[in-house]
Amino acid sequence: MGTEARIEQLRELRDEALHAGSQRAIARQHEQGKLTARERVEALLDKDSFQEIDQFVRHQSQGFGIESKRPLGDAVITGHGTIDGRPVFIFAEDFTVFGGSLGKVVADKICKVLDMALDTGTPVIGIKDSGGARIQEGVSALDGYGRIFERNVRASGVIPQISLIMGPCAGGAVYSPALTDFVFQVEETSHMFITGPDVIKTVTGEEVTMEDLGGAYAHASKSGVTHFVYPTGEDALDAARYLLSYLPQNNQETPPYFTPTDRPDRIDDSLDRIIPDSSNQPYDMLEVLETILDDGEFYEVHEHWAKNIIVGFGRLDGHTVGLVANQPAVLAGTLDISASEKAARFVRFCDAFNIPLLTFVDVPGFLPGVDQEHGGIIRHGAKLLYAYCEATVPRISVITRKAYGGAYLVMNARGIRADLVYAWPSAEIAVMGAQGAVNIIHRRELADAEDPDAKRTELVADYETRFNNPYVASELGLVDEVIEPRETRAKLIKAMNVLRTKRESLPPKKHGNGPQ
Ligand code: HXC
Repeated sequence: MGTEARIEQLRELRDEALHAGSQRAIARQHEQGKLTARERVEALLDKDSFQEIDQFVRHQSQGFGIESKRPLGDAVITGHGTIDGRPVFIFAEDFTVFGGSLGKVVADKICKVLDMALDTGTPVIGIKDSGGARIQEGVSALDGYGRIFERNVRASGVIPQISLIMGPCAGGAVYSPALTDFVFQVEETSHMFITGPDVIKTVTGEEVTMEDLGGAYAHASKSGVTHFVYPTGEDALDAARYLLSYLPQNNQETPPYFTPTDRPDRIDDSLDRIIPDSSNQPYDMLEVLETILDDGEFYEVHEHWAKNIIVGFGRLDGHTVGLVANQPAVLAGTLDISASEKAARFVRFCDAFNIPLLTFVDVPGFLPGVDQEHGGIIRHGAKLLYAYCEATVPRISVITRKAYGGAYLVMNARGIRADLVYAWPSAEIAVMGAQGAVNIIHRRELADAEDPDAKRTELVADYETRFNNPYVASELGLVDEVIEPRETRAKLIKAMNVLRTKRESLPPKKHGNGPQ
């Protein structure tokens, strides 16, 4: 065969690989409102940047008739490309080929890009749309998942790993996305579960739809598995690109710097009026965050889950910061099990990837309740404490109002090595609220009083004067500076600038043994 004929043969093979899925399967994918794997890769990456790897891989399996069907590339598309000019590795399960099911060579292809991503310090994005372990390949398919899980864990904390669930993701297959840093789901067309509605009905008698069990909102608002929900696949892919703009390529780098258009010394009077006169009245902490960040831009993570705490990314003077903030508008901003888990995971992510942490504190305490105690609030609350204590990135806190008891400490207090702690004049920093404190320390006095109510009012007022302010903590150096709310942005930018060169390391160890 001459060279020209050989080149022609290559072109034909490439064309065959590009059309591995049948027209019928592609049409079905579109009818369901889903993009094909190739369309997803194209939409995610910069134009013409995709470089495919293993396009001619074919399975070697025998039995159940599978040996007669050996499409080029099999059921996953893998390779690398760029997003906003920065390299990423990608694998996209192809539901139009064997239902995207994972056999040996599919796992081999995914493992190859995971290995390359880790070796080169490049983020990896996995698009999931699969019927799970390829039934015809049995234990070899299961082994493939094992090899992927192990690589996800090895890469954890070294490169950002993002999972987009854009179809079924069932059984043990769910553990790969669960091991990655961020999970996206698409409304209506993506489902995750360990056991599906039919198995659940047989075993427990419960009836539940696929969407209610494992749809986007089920996992975004109830289980906490999913960080981001979007109405369409295109929206989710756009959002994954946007998320990466806040992140470094790997744990040896810092996030990209964007030349700011917002003034670093911008003063905002509205913050002086945001705290209500009565300390029991809520306000929206999101407004505070949006007011201080560059251009009011905040990318909330886990928006629909544990809304009593807010986590997400923003920028201060062009540099990425990770924000953690109590939300007084939900459950009075108390910390509960889910809020602790949500914030702990986020703090660990930021610390792993050199993203400074900015914490806004307005927390009356942990949420009381038998459910909370028996559900393990001790263990789960300790996760957040552990995450902050372990974090060596710059850590700044702003106490806007309440900072009571153990929750005060857990929210990045000086005692757990916050670098700088600011307080607004409205801050109340104490062991507990005035009513509870007076009832305990003045129990006998109240019992003996002629008019206990009048006495209580007097004692509460006295306690409030003494403790419901930031000055006791300031006298002790536990608050570094009491600032006017309007000057918060300017103060934080100056603080972050000086902390950027912070270098701190933990004692050498194999790994810690934090509460799980
Ligand atoms: C082989 C599979 C497959 C699988 C789907 N297909 N899942 N082939 N192994 N696991 C094939 C179908 O035979 C079909 O082939 C094509 O993919 C499309 O599937 P349909 O059923 O026609 O599509 P749909 O109606 O949309 O249903 C999608 C589905 C269903 C809900 C995902 O296919 C399904 O229930 N699949 C099995 C899911 C499952 O139980 N997997 C094992 C999970 S356990 P043709 O040739 O007809 O087009 C697991 C363990 C992992 O994954 C453990 C890791 C530790």
